[in-house]
Amino acid sequence: MQKYWIRLIPVSRCCERRILFKTLSTAPDLTKPVADVELLGTKYPTDEWTNVTPKIISKLGLNLHVAKHHPLSHVRQRIVNHFYKAYRNRVGNPLFSVFDNLSPVVSVAQNFDSLLVPVNHPSRAKSDCYYVNQDLLLRAHTTAHQAELIAMGLDNFLVIGDVYRRDEIDSTHYPVFHQVDGVRLCTADEAFQNARGTDKLHIFENRGSESPEKQGCHTLEAVKVMEHDLKKVLVGLAQVLFGKDVKYRWVDQYFPFTHPSWELEVFYNDQWLEVLGCGIIRQEILQKAGTANRIGWAFGLGLERLAMCLYSIPDIRLFWSTDSGFLNQFITDNVNDPIKYKPVSTYPQCPNDISFWLPQDKSYCSNDFYDLVREIGGDTVEQIILIDDFIHPKTKKTSHCYRIVYRHMERVLTQEEVSEIHKKIEKAAAEQLNVDIRN
Ligand code: PHE
Repeated sequence: MQKYWIRLIPVSRCCERRILFKTLSTAPDLTKPVADVELLGTKYPTDEWTNVTPKIISKLGLNLHVAKHHPLSHVRQRIVNHFYKAYRNRVGNPLFSVFDNLSPVVSVAQNFDSLLVPVNHPSRAKSDCYYVNQDLLLRAHTTAHQAELIAMGLDNFLVIGDVYRRDEIDSTHYPVFHQVDGVRLCTADEAFQNARGTDKLHIFENRGSESPEKQGCHTLEAVKVMEHDLKKVLVGLAQVLFGKDVKYRWVDQYFPFTHPSWELEVFYNDQWLEVLGCGIIRQEILQKAGTANRIGWAFGLGLERLAMCLYSIPDIRLFWSTDSGFLNQFITDNVNDPIKYKPVSTYPQCPNDISFWLPQDKSYCSNDFYDLVREIGGDTVEQIILIDDFIHPKTKKTSHCYRIVYRHMERVLTQEEVSEIHKKIEKAAAEQLNVDIRN
């Protein structure tokens, strides 16, 4: 998350692949016929922003987070149960509403604008998102639904769903994963319900200024009670998932839509693991959603990373396996059952290298290559590692060498079979990305 939500840096200092932002896009070529792309039964017009691929489209609607007995569904249920238990209304009913069925096709306004993500922020780049067209994309986070649900009048809710990001390829990154977001809004009375004393406490102040501790409009006491409530429920969640004695720490963080912001890390298997990001919602978001009299907190977490730890699942691709050897290990009627995944068998890795000269017009970006490899190699590709990045001293041409590690999750791959895929990748890279293959 650190890398993804980096503070905005001046465009001149961004790396090349990030300079192609929406605002810089060229006007549409009206002479070209516009094809449609069909997503979840609805047709959408395409344009020069379209970069969703058939592989990615095939994941839409699979909804692993609600699939019966799926490990991601177990973790989702445990999180929901925790919030149902932690917050109840006067008659004992859960306070949080759960939305796990919202369409992943969202507008640029929902995913970015409504959350105050600056127009030239790197997270909007075409190289980092799957755009349907210039106005729509596959949501890059479940936070995309925050503002509209608040505008609908909801005060306490969870949003759970599949999210899509173009990223590197390894055992913990996959372009589709699942997130849970949570929001809680409080009036002054709700925020200070446990505070004793005769003075009336306020959540807003008039002449305050922004500091590392709070936004200008909030009182420090309101931020502190909200921070306490937020951290209490999230530490409670970590304890439910990882055990009462889990070692954890809070780290200051930055998100465009919260301030102050934190990240929760837990110590697991001898290392600190980022579990979630959270913070006090930017008041501007609440004002625009018509809820100016409340203060709120929000958090977001990824389900795959939690499930990989909790069930000892070694590779993120396994969540997409339809193999009964994987799925049957998670059949239980009690989501709290401790389950340890036992690899059915491990197949050998088959590394093959590819090197090429990049086109000199700077049109090349690694994520385009990663997508191309995924399209052709599918889930036989375990990792792609850039092993050499070299500029020729005379010609000034850049060469990249990538090691593609092939390994199937469910069977042995022969070198013959791998060579065939590898050749197809070389051919497609030369044709589509304009690179010059080196032999
Ligand atoms: N949307 C953020 C992410 O995906 C997580 C987050 C949600 C952080 C809500 C703060 C508040 O990285």
